[in-house]
Parts: sequence; structure tokens; C-alpha cells
Amino acid sequence: MQNITKRIFRPVAAVAFLLAACHSPGGTHRSLPCAGGRLAGDPPLHAQVFRHAAVAADHVIASEAGAEILRRGGNAVDAAVAVSFALAVVRPESCGIGGGGFMIVHLKDDPRHGTMTTAINYRETCPGGIDGEFYTRPGNDHPDAPTHGGMAVATPGTVAGLVYALEKYGTMDLGAVMAPAIRAARDGFPADRHMVAAARDTARWIEKDPARRAARFGFVWNRLCGGGKLAEGDRIALPELAETLELISRRGSGAFYFGAIAQAIAASVRADGGPLSMADLASYRVTETEPLTAMFAGRRFHLMPPPSSGGLAIAQTLGILERAAPDLAATSPRDPGAIHTTVEALKHAFADRAMWLGDPVFVPIPMERLLSEGSLSRAAARIDPAGTLPLDRYGTSPNAPPEASEDGGTSHFSVIDARGNAVACTETVNLGFGSMLAVEGMGFVLNNQMDDFLTRPGEPNAFGLTQSARNLPSPGKRPLSSMSPTVVIDGSTGEVVLVAGASGGPRIITATLQAALNTLSRGMSAEEASREPRFHTQWSPDVLWLEPSLATPEVAEELARRRHVLSDKAPSAACQVILRRSGLLEAACDPRKGGSPAGY
Ligand code: GLY
Repeated sequence: MQNITKRIFRPVAAVAFLLAACHSPGGTHRSLPCAGGRLAGDPPLHAQVFRHAAVAADHVIASEAGAEILRRGGNAVDAAVAVSFALAVVRPESCGIGGGGFMIVHLKDDPRHGTMTTAINYRETCPGGIDGEFYTRPGNDHPDAPTHGGMAVATPGTVAGLVYALEKYGTMDLGAVMAPAIRAARDGFPADRHMVAAARDTARWIEKDPARRAARFGFVWNRLCGGGKLAEGDRIALPELAETLELISRRGSGAFYFGAIAQAIAASVRADGGPLSMADLASYRVTETEPLTAMFAGRRFHLMPPPSSGGLAIAQTLGILERAAPDLAATSPRDPGAIHTTVEALKHAFADRAMWLGDPVFVPIPMERLLSEGSLSRAAARIDPAGTLPLDRYGTSPNAPPEASEDGGTSHFSVIDARGNAVACTETVNLGFGSMLAVEGMGFVLNNQMDDFLTRPGEPNAFGLTQSARNLPSPGKRPLSSMSPTVVIDGSTGEVVLVAGASGGPRIITATLQAALNTLSRGMSAEEASREPRFHTQWSPDVLWLEPSLATPEVAEELARRRHVLSDKAPSAACQVILRRSGLLEAACDPRKGGSPAGY
């Protein structure tokens, strides 16, 4: 198996870590350029301020696709669908029509729907031929099976989700919003730093084992990785993907789930030994649900409920912090005491993720209990300012009395339009280039979302996450996710003040939380928050990852004194943020991934 766990997880002794730590650049404010003052040909900026409407995606072509639709009078949902299809072309290592996602939509005084917020779930589902023991049966027990090739592929949801969102909440037709994506696929786009890094990872992985012949993953290898030699600026054109998208734009999602595209998907998966069938595609359904909401410091957070673990983890962490650290807003994000308290709160939430969560259609999840006053207060009271606890002291005990009442293959984008509507959308093919299996002749790769299930009891997944039997695969079930699209509304004005989310597996949760705390509580600009170094914890393994510029000797020493096991491996997540401040929209794309916002 491509051991991403090993790649991302390298705890080191505190002493070695202290030697390796470098000095923080500080959090000084840099005033943002006004979007209107930029000259044609200026290099893309990772943060800009707009007066009316903004899109922050992790690729400039995708941000521009959304802004084009907004300028033509489309709403935030029209723009979101345009961004997503464009990302399907220019970020094949992260997302695409072979994957799935979650979308939080907020509409304000909409002529059809009034003011409302909703959560659209187009996460991939487990194919009919896979059950809880599938990956342990002889013949299916190859280490790579849950992560690469046909057996790793879950039924894709992106096309169904986007068409559903557009038809119900958008105002434009599918052909209009897909036009920028089709153009990008046909004309081509230059490979950027992120794509080159993903191609290098892929080359290293393939070269480790002769069984991973490049020929098996020929499309990814030859067309997206330049035969292992992809360099920044190399032009990638995908005319077959342009044709696939054209077909969808003319015929709608039926073309993907029933027609020639469905046949090609099933044939490609079957040829590589996977069970995904035409019947799985035909029975795929989008679901829509109430978002999970949490009040924090006078703002209402609209979050993704399970099978996302991100919404619940953020709601729990905010609830614990409100009780354990009421003065958090007055602290620096680099203060070791503030880091310790936030990490401890997150560890309770991640312990609950491991113990309690799965797809709510298949397993009961005690949401009320996990978010109850009693659970949050008990967790807050257990936080010891002097140090960490043994791992089994985190989370909500099953025996507690019930209450009365590598950035991976994911992409997040945020949109706010001139009418005050907003979309937070996170989509994924799971690991870089998903399963690495492409659909013959169609120009896109398929996800490896099966690895987000518990595929082999007792073993962590590629992100190092341990999970319970609640997250075993079962036909039609959606795997647990960390994707955390978030829309925050000011409690008094009713306006959207923040749209945020991230890519990066479980680091999505910690990055989104830190972006929200640093902007809304600590008053940072979107640009500052996107640059601010971050930490990551996920309860198990018992490691605290610090980005190098956060790891000053003082911070590292203080955290090591509190018994944190520190890692010098940067916890990279990429966060795309739009913050409304002083009547303007600050849009920031995480400099770690290289996107650039657009708007007007
Ligand atoms: N595939 C990453 C996630 O959904 O958490």
C-alpha cells in the first residue's frame, strides 16, 4: 500500500524537533490590494478584496470560472457549479466528476426559497458488491486494494450533486455554467506547483513496486503526470474530458449515470478487478439535509452533518472552547497555552469521531448527546492546562449516563454573491489522483473513497485515522468524511460573515476551525488567517503536528512540557476563505496550494 500514514506521520523526539524548528515570521498585517487596481498580466494574488461578490477556489481558473458566472448575473449556486466543473478539469489530483462532495448553500431573500440554509450530500456510496469483510477476503487482501485501482472505487456523486444543486437553487442552465470548464479542458491549462508535486508523489509511488505498472494507470501517468516528468508550465489539454463534459451539459446527469459514460466507468472498474456496476451508478441518489448548527460568539455556524465528521468535530470543539477558554479571543494563535487548550478540545472531538461516527442512514449517531451541555462541560473540565491526558481519557464515554435532553485529493471553494447568497463546497477523489484509475476514453479519474471506510478492522486508513465498526462498508453506505464546508452567519445582522473549508483529510477539520477562530475571534484578515501557520491533532496517533514557522523553540518547549508528542512534519491543509469585514469581501486562497480568488 502507498503508506501515506507513514508519509504524513513522523513523530520525533522533542529535542530533535527543537533543533529543527525555525523562527516564526510573525503575524504582521499586510494591507490587501484592491482587486480593481490590478493590471492585466499581474501575477495571481492569493488574497484580494472585492466590493460585491467573490470566489475563493484553489485554482485561479476555477475562481475565474465562478466570477464569470457571477458577472453574468448568476447566483452563488450557479457560480459554485461552474467552479466545481472547472476544478474537475484543472485539479484532477484533488476532485472531479469521478468523485463526490458536500455543499452548504445559504440563500438570502431568494425569490423561490426565501432565506434558508441547506446541506447537499453527494458523497460517493459503497458499491453493491462490497461489504464489511470484502477487503479481508483472499484475493481482495492486497494492501493497495482499498486505495488504488478498481476495488478502491466508490460510486461517484459529483455530477448528480451539481445538477441537483443547480436545478433546485441555481438560476442558469447547465450548458451556461459548464462552458468555462469545457473551454479549459479543450484549450488546456498550465500545470502548477501543486499538480507537479502530486505527479512527483505518483511517480515515487509507482516506482516503488513493479506491480504498480505505469500502464495500469496509463491515463494518470501519461496525460496528467507527463510520464513522470511533469514540470510547472507544461500545458495539459484534455479533449476527451471536454467531450464528456459536453455530453453532460447537453443531456444532464442521466448521461453520466445511465448512458455511455456509465458503461465506460463500469467497464474500466471491472477491467481492474473492482465490483462497481451500472446498477450502482443507476441507483445513485443525492440527499439533502438540514445543516448542523452551532452558536459561537454571537455567530451561527452552518456545518455539514454526518457522514461528514467535520461539522460535528467543529461544533464540539467550539462548544468545549467556549467553556474551557472564554478568553481565547484575547490570545495569540501562537500562544502555547492557547494551542494546548484547542488541541485538547480537538482531541475529544476526534476521539468521538473514531468511536461514534458513520453514515447516519446505517448506524445511529448520538448527536444530541455528543453536543449536550453535559458532554461539552465534562470534556472542558477534563482539559488540564498542565498537560495531555492518556488517550483513553478523551471523547464521550459509552458508559456515561445518557443526557436528558499531503493535502490529499480534495478541494474546497467558497462563494459569496452580490445578493448575500453563499456556498461552501468541498469535493474529493480522496488521495492524490484518487484510485489512479481513469475511465477509458473519457478523460477523468475515479475516486478511492472506499479507503475512508474502515476496510481492515484494527488498521488505520491512509490518513492514519482509526475508526469503529460503525464505519464498515455496506452497499449504498457513504464513508465517513472530514470535509467541513462551513457558512457562518452574524447573529444580529443575518449576513454571511465567513465562508470557509479546506482540503487535507482530517487536517480539514483543524484548518477550518483555526481559520474561523483566527478571523472571527482574533480579528485577523482572511489573508492573514490563510498564511497563519497551523497545528493539527487527530487524537490518534497521539501526535501534535506543527507547521515549521509555528514551531519556535519557545512554543515547542512549552508544548513538550505539557507532554505533547511533537512532529516536525508540516500538517498541510489548504483553506479557502471569504470573510465579510467593514462591508467588503476579503477572499483568500491558501498559499500552500497556490489558488487565487476572483470577483468584482
Ligand atoms: N476523502 C477525504 C475526506 O472525505 O475526508
